[in-house]
Amino acid sequence: MNINSQIFSARSQKKTFNNPQRFIEGWYWVLPSRNLRKGEVKAVTVLGRELVIYRGQDKRVITFDAYCPHMGAHLAEGKVEGNELRCFFHNWKFDADGICVDIPCLEEPLPMKLKSWHTAEKYGMIWVWTGETPHQPLPFVPELEDEECYSALGSRFIKNCHPNVVMINAIDAQHFNTVHNLPLEIVFEKDELNENAITFSNTTRGGEDSFFIKLIRPFYKNVVTYSMCYWYGSTGTVTVGPDFLHFHIMFTLRMTEQGKTEGQTLFITKKRKGIFGWLFNSVVLSLTKMVGNYFAKGDTKIFQTIKFDMRTPIKADQSIMQFINHVERQKALNWGTWLDARSRDIESSDRSKWRDEMTSD
Ligand code: FES
Ligand SMILES: [Fe+2]
Repeated sequence: MNINSQIFSARSQKKTFNNPQRFIEGWYWVLPSRNLRKGEVKAVTVLGRELVIYRGQDKRVITFDAYCPHMGAHLAEGKVEGNELRCFFHNWKFDADGICVDIPCLEEPLPMKLKSWHTAEKYGMIWVWTGETPHQPLPFVPELEDEECYSALGSRFIKNCHPNVVMINAIDAQHFNTVHNLPLEIVFEKDELNENAITFSNTTRGGEDSFFIKLIRPFYKNVVTYSMCYWYGSTGTVTVGPDFLHFHIMFTLRMTEQGKTEGQTLFITKKRKGIFGWLFNSVVLSLTKMVGNYFAKGDTKIFQTIKFDMRTPIKADQSIMQFINHVERQKALNWGTWLDARSRDIESSDRSKWRDEMTSD
């Protein structure tokens, strides 16, 4: 073990990264949009919190805490009336803001409000913000920030380790060579997109003696495009492909009990108009799926058995350590309660300790 890694190991008192009791405040996926039709109500559990979600006649999706404030019936047993939700048990009704607007056996409803959560839709998914007020936009592909997009759902998957650990796979430079046989050395440069999002972009050309690289070289003016953007430590978008056509794959993860992962893959492209545009979009998304499958293959068994413990980081692991530091700086919430996780004593635990000499953060 070299001296740097000893320092790193001794100092790596992680508070949020790979912690099964905590997650970062942010936007998390709930359901594919198509699985919640107008007038439908469903029970969902997101990051340990039980919720009820419904779509009103105005197509808006509303999310509340799951249990009725009268006697605790699960509100997903109830029904949607217009844009409002009526509890099955004694028929109390709540509007889209969660305000009680009807109690059948009383002339006036009681002044009460359900706990509601900001909800939005993007890329064919329903997302919920886990804090009081969204500080950041929904996760997006940086290159497509201002574009109208076309997207398709990929597979839903379960992994036997924490979402943070699954996420680092995409910036684990060494394993591109050892597992995925990539004939080029990837070296990342990191950048902060905003408070909650961090990007890692490849800076190398390389691999000139490889037949594969020689084959694709004419399609790359400069470096070989490979970039990753992480949101809230648990949603990542990969951008790869030649200069004339970039493929965008989103892996959006959330934690299940005991710090395991439930994830969804999305394929995204810029929306091209007209019937030929639609055809082109469909072809691009099919190709994106192939690229996504290539990346998803090969690692599966690792995530079944890994006990993540970065005891001996080397220079090639720098991006991983930068990602861990980024996660540690985020606002963390407690599993299940969604309450702020950082008490003052933890907060004072010296973030600088986390800044390992190697990370140059
Ligand atoms: S439990 Fe919901 S109205 Fe009584
Ligand atoms: Fe991988």
